[in-house]
Amino acid sequence: MTSAASIMVRAPWHLPSEAIRRRLTAFDEQAAEGTHEPVCAFLYDLAALREHVAAMMTALPQRCRLYYAVKANPDRHLIAALAPLVAGFEAASIGEIRRIREVSDTASILFGGPGKKDAELEEALALGVERIHVESLHELRRLRLIAERRGLVVPILLRVNLHDTLPEATVTMAGRATQFGIDEPQVAEAIAEARRSPALRLDGFHLHSISNNLDARLHARLVATYLARVRAWAERFDLEIRCVDAGGGFGVSYDERPDFDWTLFLEALRPLLDDDPLPGAELLFEPGRFLVAFCGYYAAEVIDLKQSHGRDFAILRGGTHHFRLPASWRHDHPFEVVPRRHWPYPFPRPTLEGRRVTLAGELCTPKDVLASEVPVARLRVGDVVLFHRAGAYGWTISHHDFLGHAHPQHLYLDDRCDDKELARDADCPLLP
Ligand SMILES: Cc1ncc(COP(=O)(O)O)c(C=O)c1O
Repeated sequence: MTSAASIMVRAPWHLPSEAIRRRLTAFDEQAAEGTHEPVCAFLYDLAALREHVAAMMTALPQRCRLYYAVKANPDRHLIAALAPLVAGFEAASIGEIRRIREVSDTASILFGGPGKKDAELEEALALGVERIHVESLHELRRLRLIAERRGLVVPILLRVNLHDTLPEATVTMAGRATQFGIDEPQVAEAIAEARRSPALRLDGFHLHSISNNLDARLHARLVATYLARVRAWAERFDLEIRCVDAGGGFGVSYDERPDFDWTLFLEALRPLLDDDPLPGAELLFEPGRFLVAFCGYYAAEVIDLKQSHGRDFAILRGGTHHFRLPASWRHDHPFEVVPRRHWPYPFPRPTLEGRRVTLAGELCTPKDVLASEVPVARLRVGDVVLFHRAGAYGWTISHHDFLGHAHPQHLYLDDRCDDKELARDADCPLLP
């Protein structure tokens, strides 16, 4: 079972800020004025996001570059806040590339992902992507034709699925049979194919293998494996390596375990970099989750409380159609209860005290659960359940229109907004 309190102790910098607390209080005031719909909102603390990522960037060693994998959350406000801080963005579809270009004409973009279509490759080149991560021999051949036809020299990395024993994490993309990358035994053929035409410039390799790894030392060892492998290929095939992309995968804890320790990771990385196994090459990272998870909250009002076969259930205004992550990963998502005073009905308020409760959503499926049998000191109809760490792989991976419930509000807390207030998505200006 997850306790939000224990997570906060380990990561005090991720406590909801005063501004988030003020906005939660405002929900109560609106209710008292009789102007409210049940609370259902994603809240983003853009100031906290900037602070977190700026601190990460300050510590980054020379010749390391950090990109944001927008798949974790392609929200334009987040992209705009990150654009001045990160080296650029990693995009996995033309939709993501367009989204980034809506916010910035000049941001550097890496284009990855399996199943790229010819039209996507064409448009990505037209939109000025910096580099393409090639996922298969067939994609390589198609890209070569497109590059030759357009008279371009396209910088590429070959994404390789290593045949090695790699550490386990919540999601594993390599070191075993997956749909990602070029299978390691095909590397020689892929290098030969890439060299066949001056329209492709082979800059190096892309080796993202695991997602949500909480162990910083293990992650540094993983990067060491990548660098050793690329060095071996560079020697064997006489390659000039400009960069190695080690992907993302820095973990966020949704239970009692500590988060990925960024400082420890960089410390463990330093001797590897000092050895300089690939002189002149840059080491790229493209994390998503670790950058944006902490700045996002999902707030859902308790609509009903009921007992079923001896178990307590809370029905929330919201659910997995907005926030699928806990159902997808089968975890109890960390939360806190935000009590609200306002009670508009002329009968007693349904209340649970000192009980275990299952936090269910408003969908007609028993899978619509965000946390199962978790202890609460007190929970009443009308209170708000505030899920923490909801900024990554939340709204963006969810089936928004199932059952046709209204979408949540998306509210941005930004100390750079003139009125220092939260605004709805459509109204809030994009601020760097
Ligand atoms: C190629 C690639 N890069 C980067 C990421 C971002 O990973 P994370 O959000 O775990 O840092 C992913 C996630 O699946 C990915 O597939």
